[in-house]
Amino acid sequence: MRELKAGIIGLGVGEQHIIGYDAHPHCRTVAICDIDAAKLAEVGARHPHCRQTTDPSDVFADPDIDIVSICSYDDAHGGQIVAALNAGKHVFVEKPLCVTRAELDAIRTAHARHPNLKLSSNLVLRRSPRFLDLRARIQAGDLGDLYLLEADYNYGRLHKLTEGWRGRVPNYSVMLGGGVHMIDLLLWLTGDRVEEVAAFGTGLATRDSAFQGDDTRIAILRFASGALGKIGANYPCVYPHHHKVAVYGTHATFENNVDGALLFKSRDPSVPPARIQTAYPGVAKHALIAGFIDSVLGQGAPDVEPEEIFACMDTCLRIDEAVAQSAD
Ligand SMILES: NC(=O)c1ccc[n+]([C@@H]2O[C@H](COP(=O)([O-])OP(=O)(O)OC[C@H]3O[C@@H](n4cnc5c(N)ncnc54)[C@H](O)[C@@H]3O)[C@@H](O)[C@H]2O)c1
Repeated sequence: MRELKAGIIGLGVGEQHIIGYDAHPHCRTVAICDIDAAKLAEVGARHPHCRQTTDPSDVFADPDIDIVSICSYDDAHGGQIVAALNAGKHVFVEKPLCVTRAELDAIRTAHARHPNLKLSSNLVLRRSPRFLDLRARIQAGDLGDLYLLEADYNYGRLHKLTEGWRGRVPNYSVMLGGGVHMIDLLLWLTGDRVEEVAAFGTGLATRDSAFQGDDTRIAILRFASGALGKIGANYPCVYPHHHKVAVYGTHATFENNVDGALLFKSRDPSVPPARIQTAYPGVAKHALIAGFIDSVLGQGAPDVEPEEIFACMDTCLRIDEAVAQSAD
């Protein structure tokens, strides 16, 4: 089997991608790119087998490279995905896929033009043992018919918004930047489709900081099945980084909170819930990369298919559009 060659753009979480590609027996990272020369040199010193460049176009133009991993700031993803697809590369991109509807349309067009190229996104919660277990229980019917699903992205790392690039890039969205994980989680857990959204946002908690957008957004969703959903992207919370999830079904209720996971099977207060002992989050940032490489090699499907990313992104963008409308 031939060896695939990968190029990585953006070397924060991107270093985890290097580790993921290099761990696969039929792939290795050959090039790394960062616009910050000091960062490039620092990460390059730990991975001396990789060519180094500060120009992403060098990666797209390199005929040696089969796969491009995009781990730059959110607002650079859209243009880099289209450039990589048009250069004939398979693309694995960090979340969010992009930040505007025009970019989403351009990515769909470029992907449709190159249907043989794989495109996936790093929605890692799908590999968390806690949520894999929950999905298996839902699919087995243990929770009955689902009628309400709540998922909060409690960031717990406010400094990254008020001091880092997230506060500096134009129109940073907490729903695209964090809520995206929870929207994908609910779509993947249920196999459902979002039909309608209502949403609000506030920047109250960070109004005196350098960050001037909404630090918190919440949305109510109506799924095609008739179930309701609630999504929160809560960046200022005084809370450890956590994915708070509650799934209410007609037979049982599942809850993931900071103390662990509980499964309630009775309304009787004297019947304690079952404590679920799965690892949480229990997933490395490069956990989806082996499956992506296998899919490029024609051996199975990636964890996240393009149509799933497009549906998730459409919901994120609809939420942000609803917030903009509510603010008018
Ligand atoms: N899947 C996850 O759980 C997860 C976790 C962390 C970050 N992310 C995503 O990864 C991306 C990077 O976040 P991070 O936390 O690694 O940030 P970071 O600041 O640690 O690293 C980003 C790096 O990308 C470089 N960069 C920025 N724009 C670039 C461009 N146009 N071309 C080349 N290099 C560029 C920066 O110089 C920086 O070194 C973001 O989109 C973020 O949302 C995803």
